[in-house]
Amino acid sequence: MNTLKRSFYVMTLVGFALLSIQCKNEKKADTNIITVEEMKNLVTITKESFGTTSDSIPVDKFILKNEKGMEISVITYGGIITSWTAPDKNGEYKDIVLGFDSIQKYQMPGVPYFGALIGRFGNRIANAKFSLDGTEYTLAANDGKNHLHGGVKGFDKVVWTASEVLTDSTASLVLTYLSKDMEEGYPGNLETKVTYTLNNDNNLDVVYEATTDKKTVVNLTQHSYFNLSGDFSKPILDHEVTINADKLVPVDATLIPTGQLTDVTNTPFDFRQAKTIGKDIDVKDEQLKRGGGYDHCWALNNQNEGMRLAATAYHPESGRVMEVLTDEPGIQLYTGNFLDGTLPSKQGGTYAHRTGFCLETQHYPDSPNQKDFPSVILSPGENYISKTSFKFSVK
Ligand code: BGC
Repeated sequence: MNTLKRSFYVMTLVGFALLSIQCKNEKKADTNIITVEEMKNLVTITKESFGTTSDSIPVDKFILKNEKGMEISVITYGGIITSWTAPDKNGEYKDIVLGFDSIQKYQMPGVPYFGALIGRFGNRIANAKFSLDGTEYTLAANDGKNHLHGGVKGFDKVVWTASEVLTDSTASLVLTYLSKDMEEGYPGNLETKVTYTLNNDNNLDVVYEATTDKKTVVNLTQHSYFNLSGDFSKPILDHEVTINADKLVPVDATLIPTGQLTDVTNTPFDFRQAKTIGKDIDVKDEQLKRGGGYDHCWALNNQNEGMRLAATAYHPESGRVMEVLTDEPGIQLYTGNFLDGTLPSKQGGTYAHRTGFCLETQHYPDSPNQKDFPSVILSPGENYISKTSFKFSVK
């Protein structure tokens, strides 16, 4: 072999060796590269700005996403769920909660608590008054003469502090808010924490926690308006609902409980077997007349069992199913009776009568004034904890 041939041979060998090392490295690097397909399958939390409130407080939006593709957007103003996607029977994800696309719209007067956290006391308190240990507390009368959903500036209208917790299989948003002593008339500094956790079973857990430094009352809930069709121009009357309750908490003309619990048998309030919301909603019935439809709390069965299935909503056309589990004694079904086509829909058009329904887990309305209802009193040294899960599937 002459010198030229030999050096050509050596260079070729070196070339092959270098090529194979490079290939090996690329292969190694490959394992750290995430493909677009794999990206879709990750649990993620992303954060973006949602503008500023009218008093110049910045509001953030967090988007929780699971492996299946369910996406839940939560803003720090009111802990509001602004959008929530769920799959239909063909796997198509659509937004299934009413809401708005800007902070300005959420701050319009008279917005009916779309998607918001409700506190310090969800639902109504009669005559906006209650007493604890002989001291009478006066709250805002923001619903006729009664108090509704925490007052003029309830937990739905304050900006919460947020932190994110991500694991391999869950995305959580932890929201905290300190409600000061005598805020909206309630006694005690209330340290409040609400944790939203989305997992890969298309399940959102909402855990409410609170502690106080003075005896007070607490009843926290979530006020999402669902329309499982994903089309907010359609009324929710075709949704089939079950509520696991033998008893209703009937109300007077101002929607304050009478103090009795009544049997639902042979009334429009019997949802123990699935029936459409529309089936009995317009029948002649004094309770329905008072609510303008369903706007009532049911006393759930099996109250000693902790977390259990409280209600199910099924939209036959899309196949979407939502189960609501809770450890609370009650659930309010509100069928959007006060929606009147004046608020702008994020899908264009407006939110018409009964185009969304709420299933608000809670203690019964007016509990601070009803000695026979389960207690809503929180004392210093005690931990308020309440849990609700919204579980989505198809059939
Ligand atoms: C109440 C309704 C009220 C609605 C929001 C529901 O929780 O029960 O009476 O109109 O919230 O405005």
